[in-house]
Amino acid sequence: MTASEPVPVRIGVVGAGFMGRQHIGFIHAASGAALAAIADPVPPLDVDLGCPAYADAARMLEAERLDAVIIANPNPLHVETAVECLEAGVAVLLEKPVARTYAESRLLVDTVTRLDGRLLVGHHRRHHPAVARARSAIRDGELGQVVAVSGLWSARKEDAYFTDTPWHREAGAGVTLINVVHDLDLLRYLCGEVAEIQAMRSSHARGLEVEDTVSLNLRFESGVVGSLLASDAGASPWGWDQATEETLAFPFLPDGVAYRIVGTRGALSVPNLAKYAYDPSVPADWHSPLSRTYLPVAPRGSFQAQLDHFVEVARGSAEPLVSAEDASRTLALVEAAALAGRTGETVDVAGFLADTEASERS
Ligand SMILES: NC(=O)c1ccc[n+]([C@@H]2O[C@H](COP(=O)([O-])OP(=O)(O)OC[C@H]3O[C@@H](n4cnc5c(N)ncnc54)[C@H](O)[C@@H]3O)[C@@H](O)[C@H]2O)c1
Repeated sequence: MTASEPVPVRIGVVGAGFMGRQHIGFIHAASGAALAAIADPVPPLDVDLGCPAYADAARMLEAERLDAVIIANPNPLHVETAVECLEAGVAVLLEKPVARTYAESRLLVDTVTRLDGRLLVGHHRRHHPAVARARSAIRDGELGQVVAVSGLWSARKEDAYFTDTPWHREAGAGVTLINVVHDLDLLRYLCGEVAEIQAMRSSHARGLEVEDTVSLNLRFESGVVGSLLASDAGASPWGWDQATEETLAFPFLPDGVAYRIVGTRGALSVPNLAKYAYDPSVPADWHSPLSRTYLPVAPRGSFQAQLDHFVEVARGSAEPLVSAEDASRTLALVEAAALAGRTGETVDVAGFLADTEASERS
């Protein structure tokens, strides 16, 4: 570190399981961050973390002088841990989902507002350079008027994922809350707010309390319609995690596709950014061939970019790209999807938000 470089942000990690360990790797790779401590009742014994380990967040916060905390503990603990950290005055990167329920997420939103806290939610895909490029292609009309979007995420989780970790098979987990929440967040980021949602859910493949497969229909406020199909029981090469080199848990499939965005003048697949468009010299209709070009972007992993952004949030030099309020809206969609799946009805999202907030107040 030279005299002109800022002092690294001292980060504690709460929950050193699958995701927490990845965050630890990203901290080690970042010049602006330093791993100060971890908190986990079952700390990893197989790796030398090179930092103190505590049984829980409270003990870590009391013993260490931290600037920031990354929370990667089980979902049911997210809000209470985040509130604890915000009250201790540290910046927070909270893994998704922001909370178990929309109502619970409102408690966190209120706490962030009350304490003027700095909190980023870990919807890491938003930090991927292909997402920024896809968003600008949509916003700048490169595809004409966007009319539809489709998404697919299907990957077969190993049986031990469910047998070894009880919370993975109980309410508070499930493919919608664990995985589809990322897709819903990204589709909101790309296409705007969702007005209506329909859902079909199934636990047929695994027979667990949580669903393993879900199919969603979405109508966006912009008029765009979309569909999203996801399963953690179905083996497939299709989905964000296979199409990016984000996590070692997923073999990388070059040129993979997670989303297809269709406009009146062309189409775009994401994250490989294959853009299909008519040549200006031919009629722009289905009788003409579509040419394919790949939009160039700088290679950059979204987790590392997320960590760099979090360092800026912790220093007070950036506003969180995914705030508690924003992630709360994404979580509301997961719940609206669950309601739609239970009732078989189309759920009006604005009405669902109003009803949920009214029942919280009463
Ligand atoms: N962003 C992503 O793509 C992504 C991917 C996987 C998991 N996640 C999220 O990360 C979180 C953790 O998931 P995981 O798969 O790593 O689970 P995991 O079970 O592997 O790890 C959870 C860890 O939390 C620890 N823990 C339990 N109670 C604790 C407590 N009171 N205080 C501190 N630590 C405690 C456990 O001992 C374990 O080490 C979840 O919220 C999950 O949704 C995000």
